[in-house]
Amino acid sequence: MIHWNEGIISLLDSQGADEMNNGLEDVVAAETILSDVRGAEGQLIIRGHPLTALAGRWTFEETAHLLFTGFFADLPDAAEFAPRLGAARVDMFEATRKFLGSASKLSAYDGMRAAMAMLPDGTMLPDALRLLAAPAVLLPALIRLQAGDEPIAPSASAGHAADVIRMLGRSSGADALDTYLVTVSDHGLNASTFAARVVASTQAGLTSSVLAGLGALKGPLHGGAPGPVIDMLDAIAAEGDSASWIARALDDGERLMGFGHRIYRTRDPRADALKAALQSFGGVDARLRFAESVERVALEALHKRKPDRVLETNVEFYTALLLEAAGFPKEVFTGVFAMGRVAGWLAHAREQALTGRLIRPASRYIEPLTKEAA
Ligand code: COA
Repeated sequence: MIHWNEGIISLLDSQGADEMNNGLEDVVAAETILSDVRGAEGQLIIRGHPLTALAGRWTFEETAHLLFTGFFADLPDAAEFAPRLGAARVDMFEATRKFLGSASKLSAYDGMRAAMAMLPDGTMLPDALRLLAAPAVLLPALIRLQAGDEPIAPSASAGHAADVIRMLGRSSGADALDTYLVTVSDHGLNASTFAARVVASTQAGLTSSVLAGLGALKGPLHGGAPGPVIDMLDAIAAEGDSASWIARALDDGERLMGFGHRIYRTRDPRADALKAALQSFGGVDARLRFAESVERVALEALHKRKPDRVLETNVEFYTALLLEAAGFPKEVFTGVFAMGRVAGWLAHAREQALTGRLIRPASRYIEPLTKEAA
């Protein structure tokens, strides 16, 4: 008996769906001034700045301001943007306080998404600031509630990343988190940004776009990989033999989390930006050395098994180590990714909405034939 989905897959294969480029690789679906992912060179450019000039040098607020420039009529200058975002964090905390108890019954990611779904759907700067502030406020509050602790209120005058660390009840890791948020703030037409742009093209509003982005980011092929990176490292540490663990996983047809990328045909430049930030933490040397040894063995195995496909380390590998060192539980890593990427989603949503053009591609109908045609 053919399992129901095997039946569908073989039907699609027999109709040549593979040739149709189901993943839309190399299809240009938008023009953007926001970022450029240069796969062959391993470079990421964000509004004219190479990532290396931003990560560890610019704050998240400055980067979000850069992305927002030109997309909001009432955007203040960069110096005033940070306190406005601080005020938005305080407002968000007050506005969502009464939902936190019920949201905390879901996973932190789903709870954050549920609370954000309550926000009004506007297109102005205050709407964008609320959505930019929301993950930074909601995630620490939900983490604390789930651990049986009271949420800590935000401080309007703190830096965005520093405030997140403070709301977690921790005192170190703010600079590394800031570098992380800047590093993941935008990345071309990735799956979640595309989802956000599709929704924006209907003129639905920024909350709807951000919710679409959150939905797409959640999957392990996109933003859901860093938690499983920790699982992989822990399983390898428990077994004590990277090579045999990795060989078995690949024999079983599994993908190694934190490796491979749709666009980069060389090492993901974000991996090194995060590795550098990670080195600023004290006490992570042993973990880092172990991860580097696993990375070497994984790359060797991937290169050997897939000599025709460039499979290198992606952003998620060192994201996992950095967020672990900053004190986030692995279950919320994808939510922290959203905390940074929301800046890109908002700018892309505005850029798409401003084109005024609905995104509505075509599909190829393959079966069944109508009764008349048969
Ligand atoms: N581990 C093992 N094999 C991998 C792999 C990985 N991490 N990534 C890709 N491959 C293999 C695929 O199995 C496929 O082999 P096949 O041709 O024999 O079927 C081949 O490489 C090409 O894969 P494909 O699915 O076409 O690549 P893609 O462009 O769609 O993949 C990812 C991009 C990110 C989805 C993919 O590399 C992946 O799943 N990585 C692991 C998850 C991850 O780290 N996600 C975070 C992305 S930033």
